[in-house]
Amino acid sequence: MTPTAHEELLRPLEEYTRLHLDTLRRFGSRALDLSFPNPQFLSDPRPYDVLASLAAKARPLDLRYSPFGGFTPVRRRVAAALAKQHTLPYAWNDIVMTPGATAALRVALSSLFSPPDRIILVTPCWMDYPLYIQDLGLVFDLVPTAPDKHLDVQAIARAWTPETRGVVIAQPGSPTGVIHDDRELAQLAAVMLRHPAPTPPLLIADEAHALQVWDQTPCPAPATHYPHTITVRSFGKAWDMQGQRTGCLAVSPHLGVRDQAVAALVRSMRVTGHCAPTALTQQLAAALSDTAPDLTGLAELQRHTRRNLTDRGLTVLDTHATRFLYARCPTQDDRVFVSRLAGCGVLVMPSSLFHEPGWFRIALNLGQPHLDRAIDIISQEYGRA
Ligand SMILES: Cc1ncc(COP(=O)(O)O)c(C=O)c1O
Repeated sequence: MTPTAHEELLRPLEEYTRLHLDTLRRFGSRALDLSFPNPQFLSDPRPYDVLASLAAKARPLDLRYSPFGGFTPVRRRVAAALAKQHTLPYAWNDIVMTPGATAALRVALSSLFSPPDRIILVTPCWMDYPLYIQDLGLVFDLVPTAPDKHLDVQAIARAWTPETRGVVIAQPGSPTGVIHDDRELAQLAAVMLRHPAPTPPLLIADEAHALQVWDQTPCPAPATHYPHTITVRSFGKAWDMQGQRTGCLAVSPHLGVRDQAVAALVRSMRVTGHCAPTALTQQLAAALSDTAPDLTGLAELQRHTRRNLTDRGLTVLDTHATRFLYARCPTQDDRVFVSRLAGCGVLVMPSSLFHEPGWFRIALNLGQPHLDRAIDIISQEYGRA
């Protein structure tokens, strides 16, 4: 096989996909899959109820083609909801509906940057950011977070180069679940505002998990701190309907090049062949946009799992959002520990996939008693390592 330009980035992802599949084949229904966030229980039935009622009422025109940015009434409703959450005056055409946060990220990167731009990625980060940046001929600079996985703003300032044109952060952090507070977001904004020429750098705020805060911790929006922000949202993540592929981009009303940015994003949807989400999925996103999912069940599972793992000597990052727990590996090579767990039928993800060594991520996909069985195995293997 000819080595591709992305070989180094793709190899670990593909190796993990193989381990995942092999383990599922080997253990069948006994596998305890806490890897990719695909929960096996329903936290909040509303997406199912709304989708069923939309489908029951659908007439031919409800399934018509959508414009590339999405249906205007859908964009209007999403803009109004986000305006309340961010306290920013979003208009309908600041919103671009996308098939998931995945496409939103790719479209934002492809339309708002060009070579030789450099983009700072704060690690650990979502696994595919570097892949998109590299594929677009851009350059990424990985900047680790502080030991508590909050932003290390001084490190970001030190990593800045004359070609740096953007920063990507996730709020809340993914895979960690850390919520970046107002103080660190203000510090980041101050660093970015130091570099206004030739045009202000852009902040891509990946809020895929913004509605997955499972306690009362406030989750400030990066867009309220820095005017040149493009926000990424995922209705799929918010409502545990990832396979419905629905998300959006929101251009800050205070962005210097607001109109050009929206036009570039919509054009890029066409150029890249990323159509808007399907017609009914857009209606579903609009219907759900005013409310937040009920996370009572997730909060209970989070507290239960954290208590059990820490009681057995594991270090779990103290966080307040996402379906994830981020825990330290007993060995520096996270892939070795994750493979050992896979050998016992437990699937978790190694942090090296998120561009940081030494940790692993647990996705709370299972309810009790399966989760407790997984906790037992993880704790035993941790003790043995
Ligand atoms: C931080 C982050 N961004 C983007 C995505 C992709 O989201 P979507 O499923 O909406 O494409 C994920 C998915 O896990 C994520 O964690």
